[in-house]
Amino acid sequence: MHMDNRIFNTLILLALLIASLAQVSISHAQVEAPQASGKELFIQYRCVRCHTIGRGVFVGPDLKGVGDRYTKAEILRWIENPQLIYSASAKMPVNPGFPPMPPMQVPPQAVEPIADYILTAKPDSDSQSGGTITGKVINGGDGEVMPGVAITITPFMGDIAGTPQTITSGAEGAFSFTELPWDRSHAISINYKGAEYSTDKIVFNPGEDNKALNLPVYEPSLSDENISIEESHLIVQVLDGNITVADLNVFNNAGDTIYIGGKELSDGRKESVKYSLPEGAFNIGFIHGLDTESVVTTDIGFSDTTSILPGPRRAVFSYNVPLKSGSTVIDKSILYPTSTFLLLILETENDFTVKGLTEEEPVVINNEKFLKWTGSDLSAGSEVVIEIKSSLTSQGDYVKWAALGLLALIVIAGVIYSMLRNKGEASDEVSEEPQDADLLEKRSALIVEIAALDDRNESGDIEQAEYKELRERKKNELVEITRRLRATHKSP
Ligand code: HEC
Repeated sequence: MHMDNRIFNTLILLALLIASLAQVSISHAQVEAPQASGKELFIQYRCVRCHTIGRGVFVGPDLKGVGDRYTKAEILRWIENPQLIYSASAKMPVNPGFPPMPPMQVPPQAVEPIADYILTAKPDSDSQSGGTITGKVINGGDGEVMPGVAITITPFMGDIAGTPQTITSGAEGAFSFTELPWDRSHAISINYKGAEYSTDKIVFNPGEDNKALNLPVYEPSLSDENISIEESHLIVQVLDGNITVADLNVFNNAGDTIYIGGKELSDGRKESVKYSLPEGAFNIGFIHGLDTESVVTTDIGFSDTTSILPGPRRAVFSYNVPLKSGSTVIDKSILYPTSTFLLLILETENDFTVKGLTEEEPVVINNEKFLKWTGSDLSAGSEVVIEIKSSLTSQGDYVKWAALGLLALIVIAGVIYSMLRNKGEASDEVSEEPQDADLLEKRSALIVEIAALDDRNESGDIEQAEYKELRERKKNELVEITRRLRATHKSP
């Protein structure tokens, strides 16, 4: 079992982080979704992001009359896994001029209801000149309506932006965009007093002509007095001569202002929140809620320049520290008051000493033992110091893929999903959380699939060529999803 690619290490850490969150937030778990209709599933599994039924060609073909082009068995295959269509027809794409349809990870029980829905849905008419999005700009702090604010809407075909249009909110803060093409998604953005707000890409669902949404904006704040960290998780692995660390922070802005940051950074931008890195940290990866363009390197680590909305905000990053022979110290400075701190270290033959936290019983997560420390109400300026003793730089302390299967399954079971939703609520319409959650969930599913593949390979019950082909494909999907996770996370 070999992990040759850095991204896989990062993914393992992500799965662990998610699992560590799941541990803390287990109470959110397992709310059984009531049986959804085919149409709801068609929306939920994101078909609407690429297909209309009767309203024109979007990223994918218009599904109107799709029953005349395919048998039900073929429609099931499109939904279950388009690759089945591609291998059967030896053609990719099937429809000239379209990109191939990506696998949608629709769970088996949802495949048939979706197929039945698209086979029987009454096509929407495209005769109407387009959809309408109306709403009000409000001050999220005091609920007052906000007239005179410039609002921009940009149409998208997949990731490609069309021509934006800008209007100004009227007397009661009201705005209305009309004649919006059905076969596009639409992102709305506002720049108010130095903070940039943007919605997720909005699509019109089947039968939907109008959308109403309010756009909250906030007065800016330059002071970080309302910023704290609700949960901080550090996951440490000694792996392959390196120490790999994943660092997750759930910030909270307890005020009713948007924190745009005060201090000027080396490139003239303003620092919002800052992060510390231990000495020697390298290979820094921004996994969630952070991206290269918004981050500036500082003396102590790096600073983000994106504004912090009232409510929670998650940020996940990872890095490596070289494992020295003898003793290696990872010094984590606490920069904001931190309510709960969780440190998990994968048990290896190394000795670990931790200062600044309380040792607890180790936890076993699907056969892998993690040493565990916790802390609560850590004040800004305090430190967590981890010392790792090693006689030799170790080789081969791989986390087994199979061990991660369960973690990822926990995730798929909806723990993280519901949690992300809950945490995302405060940012209202401007939240991108559900989309991220989708991607995270998809990524976890891929981790499980790759784990299963590796296990089959190890036990010799898969052809080498098939194994290589499948693994390569799934790996590429992982890379793509990781890229999208980074790309979708724009400010704020
Ligand atoms: C990311 C965009 C995207 C998403 C999301 C998506 N599709 Fe597709 N779909 C496409 C593209 C592109 C094609 C055309 C591919 C080709 O011709 O090979 C297609 C083709 C199809 C076809 C065959 C249509 C035809 O006329 O040949 C069906 C049926 C279909 N999709 C159903 C679905 C369903 C159901 C969902 C949701 C579970 C879905 N698609 C999600 C992009 C997407």
